[in-house]
Amino acid sequence: MKVTVVGAGAVGASCAEYIAIKDFASEVVLLDIKEGFAEGKAMDLMQTASLNGFDTKITGSTSDYKKTAGSDIAVITSGIPRKPGMTREELIGINAGIVKSVATSLVEQSPNVILIVVSNPMDTMTYLAHQVTGLPKHRIIGMGGALDSARFKYRLAEALEAPISDVDGMVIGGHSDKGMVPLTRLATRNSVPVSEFISEDRLNQVLEDTKVGGATLTKLLGTSAWYAPGAAVSGLVQAIACDQKKIFPCSALLDGEYGLSDLCIGVPVVLGRNGIEKIVEINLSDAEKVKLQESAAGVKKTNESI
Ligand code: LAC
Repeated sequence: MKVTVVGAGAVGASCAEYIAIKDFASEVVLLDIKEGFAEGKAMDLMQTASLNGFDTKITGSTSDYKKTAGSDIAVITSGIPRKPGMTREELIGINAGIVKSVATSLVEQSPNVILIVVSNPMDTMTYLAHQVTGLPKHRIIGMGGALDSARFKYRLAEALEAPISDVDGMVIGGHSDKGMVPLTRLATRNSVPVSEFISEDRLNQVLEDTKVGGATLTKLLGTSAWYAPGAAVSGLVQAIACDQKKIFPCSALLDGEYGLSDLCIGVPVVLGRNGIEKIVEINLSDAEKVKLQESAAGVKKTNESI
C-alpha cells in the first residue's frame, strides 16, 4: 500500500506521521515544492520509526511526481492555510490553482489512485478535483466531516463531563464555519441521546463551538490546526487501505442523494478499498434538511468562483 501526501507542511507532516504510526502502509511519499523540505520531514519522521515502532518507509521529494507513481491513495494538503479572522472560502484564489495542478500531476502518475482532498475551501477543492481529473466519483473524497465530528465529540465530552470514548456524534454539511451541520439530535452518550443529560442551551453551545472549531484554533495558533486534521486524514486512509467499511462523514460528489446534485458536500459514506463504497442516506428531521440545503447553497456559491 503506497500513500502519497502532497504538502509537507504541518497538516501533511501530521498525516504522514499518524499513517506511519498506525503501521498499515508499506510506503508513504511526502512531496513539497520547497527544496529539501519534504526530504527533511521524511528523514526526521523515519528517525522516529525505531522509537515509535513502525516499519512504514517514508520518503520525501521536492516536486518530483515520478516518485509518487503507483500510489494507491494520495492526500492533497497543499496550498495556504488561513490566518486568524479569515474564512476558508477566502483561500480559493490561491488554492484552486495549486489543487488543480497537484491533482492532475498525481493522476498522471497513478491513474488508479484514490484522492483525499484536504486543502481549503475543501468542498469546493474536492469538486474542482473532480472537474480536472474526471476520476469516478467514488475515488475522490473530501476530508472535513471526520475532523468536524472529532471536534464535536470533544465539545460533547466537555459538556457532558464524560470521557470522549463514551460519546458519539456526527457533523455533516459543508466544511465551513457557517455550513457545518452538527447532528445534535443523533448524538449519544453510550447510546443514550445526549439531550437526556444536558440542557438545550448547553447543546446549542456545543453546536456553536463545534462550528467555529477551526477558527478558534486558528486564532490561538496564528495559523490553521494540524494534529486533528492529520489524525482525521489518517483515519480515512486506514479505512480505505484496510478495507474497513467504516462510516465517516466525507465530502462526496452528490447526484440526487439528500435531494442535492452537482456539488461535493459532507454526508455519511462507507469507506473501503474502493474509496466511497456507499453514500448513506439517513433520515433527517425537517430542520436538519433545511440546514443541509442552506449549507449546500453556500458551497455552490463558493463553487461559482472556480
Ligand atoms: C481545519 C482546517 C483543516 O478545520 O480546515 O482545521
